[in-house]
This record gives sequence, C-alpha cells and structure tokens, in this order.
Amino acid sequence: MGRTVITGGTVVTATENMTADVLIDGSTVAALAAPDAHNWAEGADRIVDASGLLVIPGGIDVHTHMELPFGGTYSSDTFETGSRAAAWGGTTTIIDFAVQVKGQTALEGYEAWMEKAEGNCAIDYGFHMITGDINDQTLKEMDILMDEGVTSFKLFMAYPGVFYSDDGEILRAMQKAAEIGAVICMHAENGIAIDVLVEQALARGETDPIYHGIVRRSILEGEATNRAIALADVSGAPLYIVHMSAQESLDAVIAARDLGKNVFAETCPQYLFLDLDNLGNGFDGAKYVASPPLRDRAEGHQERLWRGLATNDLQVVSTDHCPFCMGDHHTFGTQKQLGVGDFTKIPNGMPGVEPRMELIHHGGVGEGRISMNRFVEITATNPAKMFGMHPKKGTIAVGADADIVLWDPTGKRTMSVETHHMDVDYSAYEGLEVTGTVETVLSKGKVMVENGEYHGKAGDGAYIKRGTSQMLI
Ligand code: URP
Ligand code: ZN
Ligand code: ZN
Repeated sequence: MGRTVITGGTVVTATENMTADVLIDGSTVAALAAPDAHNWAEGADRIVDASGLLVIPGGIDVHTHMELPFGGTYSSDTFETGSRAAAWGGTTTIIDFAVQVKGQTALEGYEAWMEKAEGNCAIDYGFHMITGDINDQTLKEMDILMDEGVTSFKLFMAYPGVFYSDDGEILRAMQKAAEIGAVICMHAENGIAIDVLVEQALARGETDPIYHGIVRRSILEGEATNRAIALADVSGAPLYIVHMSAQESLDAVIAARDLGKNVFAETCPQYLFLDLDNLGNGFDGAKYVASPPLRDRAEGHQERLWRGLATNDLQVVSTDHCPFCMGDHHTFGTQKQLGVGDFTKIPNGMPGVEPRMELIHHGGVGEGRISMNRFVEITATNPAKMFGMHPKKGTIAVGADADIVLWDPTGKRTMSVETHHMDVDYSAYEGLEVTGTVETVLSKGKVMVENGEYHGKAGDGAYIKRGTSQMLI
C-alpha cells in the first residue's frame, strides 16, 4: 500500500477540527501536519484529494448480526455482503454477536462465528458473545473468551425459550463479568410479561405486525432496564443497554449514571427516525418488526433519545443490523413472510449497517441536535472506547489504524433499495433524502470506496482481539 497522503481537507475528531493533511504509511496514520508544513507529496504512492471535505474516523458499528439464525431462517447479509455494505456506508469496523444457543458451549458458538467471518469480511471485525445458556461451563469459558478478545457478553431478558436468561442466571453471569473485567450487554425487555400480552393478542385475533409494536410496551423495556441496573449494581459488573428505544429505559440509565454507576447505552437509527406507524399498513409493517419495537412518536421517545445523545446520557449509535427479506432470499428462502397471519413468527430485525452514518449526520448534525465532533464521538470514538479498541480505532491520530472517511457535509443522497448494497430487498428509509454523504472510505490505508466505485474484497478485514472497556468510571 505504501504511503498515502490525504490532502486539503479538515480533520474532525471527537475533540478537534484541524486544517491538516494526513500521512498514511501502510495501514496506519504516520503524521498529521498543516498543508504548508510538509512535502509528503514527494515520494507518496497515492494522493487523495480531500478539498472541501471533512476527514473523519471510519465508523464503528458495535451491533450487527450477520447470518444470524432466527425464527427458522438466517439474517440475509453474510459477513461478505454485510461488511461490504458497511464499507459503502463509511463503517470500517463492526462488532458482531457470536451466538451460543442452548445445549451448545460458548466456545463452540465463538468458533462457529470465527469460521463464518474468516476470509469473508472486507473490514475489521470483533465479536461479543451471546451467552444463551448460562451454566458452570459457560461461566468458565468466559475466561477463555476474554483471552480471545471477546470482552463483552450479551444477555437477554426477552425471548423466553430462545436466548432468555432468568434473573439468577443473569446475576451469575454478571458476577463473572465483574470478576474478569467484562462488559454485560443487555437486551432489556420483560419477555415473560410480553409473552402473556402476545398470547392474549393472538387470542383476540390480533395477528398483524402492528401488534408486535403494541404488545411490547415501552414500560416493560423500562422495567427490564431498571432490573438490569439493579442486578449489575449487586454484581459490580459494567452494564451496556443495547438498542434502547424507550424513554422509560433512558430515565433508568440517566438515574444510574447520575449516581456514578458504570451504566451505558446505545440507540439505533430506527428508533430515531421511524415510529409505530411504520408497523401499520397491513403486512408491509413486517419490514419494521424488530425488538424492542418502534415507538409511538406522540409519546416523545424519539426526541428524548436524540437529547440523550446530545447530553451523553446515551453514548453510542449502533444499528442492530439484522436484515430479513420481504420476498424470498436467494439462499435462506422465506423470511418475513413466515409471519403472515401471526406477527410472532416474523423474524425480528431490520437492515441498517449501510445508512447509519448518513442518517445520524442528517438527523443529528443537519437538524442542529449535535455537533460534527459529537457525531464522530457517538459513531466511532465512543464505540471504540466502550469495547476496548481505542486509540487504534475510533480516531485519527499518529499510530491509529488508517480507517478514514472523506465526508461531504453538503452532499445529498436518497436512500433506496435500488442503490444500497445490503443483501435485502427493501430499504427502511426508502425515499428519504439525506444531507451529508460518504465520499471516500479507507480501511487500514486501503481505499475501499472512491468515486462511486468499490475496491475492497472479502478477506481485507481481520479479527480484532479487543481489550477491556475504556469507558469505565
Ligand atoms: O429484532 C432484533 N433486534 N433482532 C436481532 C436480535 C436482537 O435482539 O438484537
Ligand atoms: Zn437484542
Ligand atoms: Zn441485536
């Protein structure tokens, strides 16, 4: 790859705006300097012109599900297609969720995910571990996984009979996490109560996708978040609430953080842009079935989440990218249609890894809710710190990986299934015009996207052995 110079742009990190050129030597950033203070062009192998553009750290999406087995099918993006789409959208690192299903060891789940990703990912990747079967062996294997760089574990208070753990299992896993310095990622919804409401809805003949949003009440996300915080407090484990959608959950996190507890949270673009109405319109609403569900806009969740991002009550925007096709998928077959006549059979999840950066810039910076620096912080720097990858990832600094996006703050794009690169047959944001676009993407010094062309390939990405969280108080 040799030496690359990015010239003429404004470097924006979480803390600084600099008129600076960037010298990349191989895969890392070698120097930053004022444009007239160097002669790097001499001997450079490649000059990348960033005139009029912002030069920002590559995005980090810490919540993806490539090829996730769910409800009798698999999420439609593989590591190959999903990581390529991520790169198109300015994301240069993902953390996906390896899965331990009941009856399997955690190490078997981890090895299966390593195999799926190896040689297929275009960008760097790490894993959290979904510990779906908490027992003595799983707790022992958490030590081994820590050594492998899997330093965060996801537990579910939802999905009884699938990934669900009861409070005792959660406490035991949290105690182990506290002992070894791991982070607990929590899917906080009261799945037991939700299942009662589901049963009652189906008995009334309420089978359309809209009822997915109606039965999964926001107060049950709030209750679960409060309970998770209490259990984390008892155990001493750091807690990270994933895919937060509800103000009741945000209130719980704010209260815990105000008390100085190691409690953190992410939200996702779907909860910032879409709402309960998207679940209406008959079976078309299946496109938007994910858990937690989209919320009633009139209740104010969306604006509270945006404000939480501005005030650092929320630290990260990830995607929970978990796409399923409305029609048949070429490899995995019938997907969302599995739930025709019964919303509980609709595979849960939505596509989002590609549009995340542009959506958050548009709704955040464009709408005056957050600064460009905060945009970088919540899409790259905090994700890297939260999950032990900083400063190699998440910033532009000497020694950091040259994961860099040239960003046009005035560029326009219309979101559409016709132009996206995710392997899914709809866009959740069809027709939305955003301001602020990804122009050029470098991953570890390699130009992946330039002038509307893709130059990456499967296997360009490598596994990241992550360290412990760098966000803890
Ligand atoms: O609906 C969702 N969120 N699907 C993916 C699995 C999860 O709970 O994150
Ligand atoms: Zn979840
Ligand atoms: Zn998820």
